[in-house]
Amino acid sequence: MLAGIDKLNFFVPPYYVDMTDLALARDVDPGKFHIGIGQDQMAVTSITQDIVTLAANAAAHLLTKEDKETIDLVILGTESSIDESKAAAVILHRLLGIQPFARSIEMKEACYGATAGLQLAKDYVLRHPGRKALVIACDIARYGLNSGGEPTQGAGAVAMLVTENPRILALSDESVALTQDIYDFWRPTGEAYPVVDGPLSNATYIDSFVKVWQEYQNRYQQDWQAFDAMCFHIPYTKMGKKALLAGLEGVDANISETLLTRYEESIAYSRQVGNLYTGSLYLGLLSLLEHSENLVPGSKIGLFSYGSGAVAEFFTGTLVAGYKQHLQKTAHQELLQNRQKLTIPEYEALFTKELTNENLAKNSDQTPYRLVAIKDQVRYYQE
Ligand code: COA
Repeated sequence: MLAGIDKLNFFVPPYYVDMTDLALARDVDPGKFHIGIGQDQMAVTSITQDIVTLAANAAAHLLTKEDKETIDLVILGTESSIDESKAAAVILHRLLGIQPFARSIEMKEACYGATAGLQLAKDYVLRHPGRKALVIACDIARYGLNSGGEPTQGAGAVAMLVTENPRILALSDESVALTQDIYDFWRPTGEAYPVVDGPLSNATYIDSFVKVWQEYQNRYQQDWQAFDAMCFHIPYTKMGKKALLAGLEGVDANISETLLTRYEESIAYSRQVGNLYTGSLYLGLLSLLEHSENLVPGSKIGLFSYGSGAVAEFFTGTLVAGYKQHLQKTAHQELLQNRQKLTIPEYEALFTKELTNENLAKNSDQTPYRLVAIKDQVRYYQE
């Protein structure tokens, strides 16, 4: 029996900044952001959006009544937790109306968390025929105003329904994971922003890809030509390309060209959204599937997941017959087009707005799921 991604959707908040505006405001050549880093727009959240609302907005439209009755696992991969103890997935379970006899948990390992969730979900549905799992990768990526990482911020969620006989991507058991205790990016408890060693982080990402890819080739006797596309974790769109180019050194020019073209298709959404941390790899997968005319059922896709700290994994999936009918390209393009562009002062005001009930009450955000109040440390949501 096969298991994998049966439904796939993303949600981003309704605001963005243009990277030319941000570059000019920071006295940087816009070419650095658009070409050097590879970002055109960056999603921005208001205080009414947290990981619960972003995740709920990504998942709500995916689920039928039958799905809600058969989901046994709700897993939220995130590094933007709102609580040290209670999992946001528990709130999400209620908001989405999932049947009560389910497990709801949050998974953390920087940008890798949702991949651990996906693998757990896959194994669960294989062992429990007919049952389903909901995996959501959701983050609000914040480095701080005027910081080196500011152009690599973003926010949003990717929801995946994991089932047997999936209708989009069947996941293989072939995978290689790697753990290395490295301080390249981390956020000590209570800190609003991460501590980042940018050059070490970039180098560890590339080195991790080379290591898991080489180990994968050794273990499974597979080579580049076995793959129709490769998706990467995308903290900014140039990052995955650097790793891909490092791996492609000395590889046949036709194979390289094909994989680089697929890579460009996989970053179309990320260029407009920015960094989703855990969600970035899966936004890349969605972008590839919704932009590529060269993939067909049976096409094999490699996925490289990386979470600073560091855990990496290379795993694979195969497109299923009819997968295109289960994508929502038009809705996703509308979601991106209908966002409001913020000026840099408006972005800075939203970014620094204090999370108080007074500010929540004043907010004009009409996003379907939103945070409306916090009383006695309990968060209240509008559905
Ligand atoms: N036109 C075109 N490209 C330009 C440019 C211009 N005017 N000015 C600079 N660039 C290029 C640089 O040559 C460089 O390209 P390269 O990486 O291919 O050499 C790129 O833009 C970035 O410039 P750099 O000077 O390295 O930027 P930075 O010191 O501000 O660091 C990050 C950029 C992304 C590494 C930094 O923002 C960061 O630390 N991010 C967080 C950590 C992270 O995302 N790690 C990734 C692994 S998860």
